[in-house]
Amino acid sequence: MNESRFLRVLAGESVDRPPFWFMRQAGRYLPEYQEIRKDFDNFLSFCYTPDAAAEVTLQPLRRFGMDAAILFCDILVIPDALGQEVRFVKGDGPQLEPVTEKTLESLDPGKVRKHLAPVAETIRQVRRSLPPGAALIGFAGAPWTVAAYMLEGRTSRQFSKAKHTVWQQPEMFAGLMAKIERATIDYLLMQIEAGAQAIQLFDSWCAVLPEQTFRQWVMAPARRIVAALRAKHPYVPVIGFPLRAGALAVDYARETGVQAVGIDALAPLDWVRREIQPLACVQGNLDPELLASSAAGTLAAAERLLDVLGEGPLVVNLGHGILPHTPLAHVEALAARLREVRR
Ligand code: CP3
Repeated sequence: MNESRFLRVLAGESVDRPPFWFMRQAGRYLPEYQEIRKDFDNFLSFCYTPDAAAEVTLQPLRRFGMDAAILFCDILVIPDALGQEVRFVKGDGPQLEPVTEKTLESLDPGKVRKHLAPVAETIRQVRRSLPPGAALIGFAGAPWTVAAYMLEGRTSRQFSKAKHTVWQQPEMFAGLMAKIERATIDYLLMQIEAGAQAIQLFDSWCAVLPEQTFRQWVMAPARRIVAALRAKHPYVPVIGFPLRAGALAVDYARETGVQAVGIDALAPLDWVRREIQPLACVQGNLDPELLASSAAGTLAAAERLLDVLGEGPLVVNLGHGILPHTPLAHVEALAARLREVRR
């Protein structure tokens, strides 16, 4: 029997209390993260320095006792490994030289394992120091979200330029998606071989797409990635996170083969219990800005979450990543409550 309640709940077993972790739990709200971050001008160099990345992966667990650690890295290491220039500009987010028909040619999915070997080393180091009972989550961006950054060149509210490419240059878009998908599968297999015990696929920008495009470029690639991973590693669970997918989260849960689905803070809990929890474990969905605003408000929302979903398969998390201005005391209050829940 696995001693990790996080892995047990993802395997469909019942556990003494719902496990919890928080998206972006390794990050700027932690002073000990800032302390290490300041040694690096270049964010990607930080991601590629195993000692530093392993240390910040473990930091939140020491303070808050989460049931899982998430690998410290970023989804944009895939464009970097493919050969696209990626820079992180302070206060301005990531900047990439947008992919064109011409530059697409030169992107090479064959270099992933070599280029991202330091990430595998981070995973091996974290596994050696993981607290008993805690599990390590590996991750990647889902192909659409990675393609959106590669085509847009920066973060955006609507990703219009990336969307136009879907319909105006369908062959070029399909070619790009095929390269990203291949690179992502190879990268995630490498993470599992190095010791990642579960995988999360972040599709942060899936909600800018219309239904049919969502089915073709969000659900179908997720299904192929899950199948490729599970063919080689049938016991490694995959958490799909189609952020703000609304009603399409039901078909996503049913058709992609994921073991869990991440739910955002707007998803109605009674609907989630009826429509999604019978199909897959549910992960979510406290509001990150609520956590930053009010410990009491967050605790009340957590009680409701536990009341509605706590009897079924549930991983307590936020609906999206923890925000840099979140007070440590609020995180501690929530973690303390979640550690003491008993069924
Ligand atoms: O969850 C964790 O603690 C593990 C590490 C992690 C990071 N990014 C570290 C990071 C994970 C899982 C991610 C995922 C990620 N990265 C996503 C998907 C999740 C989401 O939030 O929607 C996306 C879209 C990105 C791309 C990205 N990386 C952006 C847009 C930015 C800039 C905006 C921001 O939040 O700063 C980053 C930078 C980044 N990735 C930081 C961290 C800790 C901040 C960089 C810094 O410390 O200067």
